[in-house]
Amino acid sequence: MAVIADRCPQVQVTVIDMNTDRIAAWNSNSLPVYEPGLAEVVQRARGRNLKFINQADGVQAIKEADAIFISVNTPTKTQGVGAGKASDLSYVESCARWIAQHAAGPKIIIEKSTMPVRTAERIKEILSQNNSTTRFDILSNPEFLAEGTAIRDLEKPERVLIGGESLEAVNALVDVYAQWVKPDLIITTGLWSAELSKLAANAFLAQRVSSINSLSALCEKTGAHVDEVAKVVGSDSRVGPKFLKASVGFGGSCFKKDILSLVYLCEFYSLPEVAHYWQQVIEINEWQKKRFAGKIIETVPAHGRVAILGLAFKKETNDFRESAAIDIVQYLLKAGLEVIAYDPKVKFGDFEKSLTTSGNLRSASTVSEALDGTNAVAILTEWEEFSSLDWKGFTSQLRNCSIIYDGRNITRMDETLAQKHNLRRIGVGN
Ligand code: UGA
Repeated sequence: MAVIADRCPQVQVTVIDMNTDRIAAWNSNSLPVYEPGLAEVVQRARGRNLKFINQADGVQAIKEADAIFISVNTPTKTQGVGAGKASDLSYVESCARWIAQHAAGPKIIIEKSTMPVRTAERIKEILSQNNSTTRFDILSNPEFLAEGTAIRDLEKPERVLIGGESLEAVNALVDVYAQWVKPDLIITTGLWSAELSKLAANAFLAQRVSSINSLSALCEKTGAHVDEVAKVVGSDSRVGPKFLKASVGFGGSCFKKDILSLVYLCEFYSLPEVAHYWQQVIEINEWQKKRFAGKIIETVPAHGRVAILGLAFKKETNDFRESAAIDIVQYLLKAGLEVIAYDPKVKFGDFEKSLTTSGNLRSASTVSEALDGTNAVAILTEWEEFSSLDWKGFTSQLRNCSIIYDGRNITRMDETLAQKHNLRRIGVGN
């Protein structure tokens, strides 16, 4: 929304949230999300044509709006039908009810959150049941930005997707994006294709990571190097080079949730073979994390200490939702190991609260502190700070440490240095 406001100064954008602390943070100099470039965009538009307000003050904005984006979270359901797989639409539904209650005059309602296919039908039903006098047109406009590169992805998107039934409504939203996106990059489709394409796009991306991660295990057995294999496979333009980086496992708030939602949809529509096919992308990911932790547990002495470098699910973000670090740390704690963790952006207290296993875990405020006296190092996020580490400078701390487990294949170990200090580097798939 900040980028829309930035690129379309003639459009008034009002962001409404029921969480008053979040709104206060969006109105302050300390934004609630770390994202390169975001603060500058917000700074430019806030107070001009971008406003952040509490839901209690939002009724007038709903009345005046021509278009309303529903951008609430759709987490995996924890109870009821489809628990553990289906998306929880309760926030979307309560939003639709609230909009219907206050809307007067025609409105375009835009699904921005990732939704299961055919959610628009449910939204339409709620809107018309709660407000029979207003005309509502529903559009699906899923978001393809990735965290860490969000502003770049929004300012120079590879595509914008708008699905809908009413040509007039579709064109109204096309006009907004056309202020800064070339028209041939704006794809318009039917509603159901747009909803499904979002889930499909994430499933394909995650599938690539699981495909290369599955082969990383075979590389380790055979002496092949996974980065070399990925380079060869990805240099075929039919495959492409991106998203073939073997890792400790993918994380983030989207891949697992969206694939589970896809699996549930397949089961719901009685397609068990298709459900099983996509479920396997998740299974490989879980296995990859377990395999990585298993290697550490096998080699570190009982009650030994492991330094974790990186808690975020990828670099350039403070987000650790579904991060591989959550599982790896828990596996290590369960094995009775001591864990000391460092991440340049993640708040350790929040990370710790997300764990369901307790044990000997603490945080370090620098890499040096994390490495001091440790038996092993596990690199779980590809932060530049870790890829550019000069291991020579840490040899005195690494005295007792023989193995660096590189879950991102970002470290290079000088052979003479390794031999002199009895260091070993174990990557993923090499
Ligand atoms: C993902 C998609 O990339 C976006 O297109 C989509 O809009 C977004 O989900 C969403 O649905 O909102 P995001 O989860 O922010 O974006 O991050 P990714 O860059 O996709 O990374 C996901 C995970 O895969 C990370 O843990 C990353 O380290 C891992 N990964 C990625 C690999 O292990 N190897 C790779 O080659 C690429």
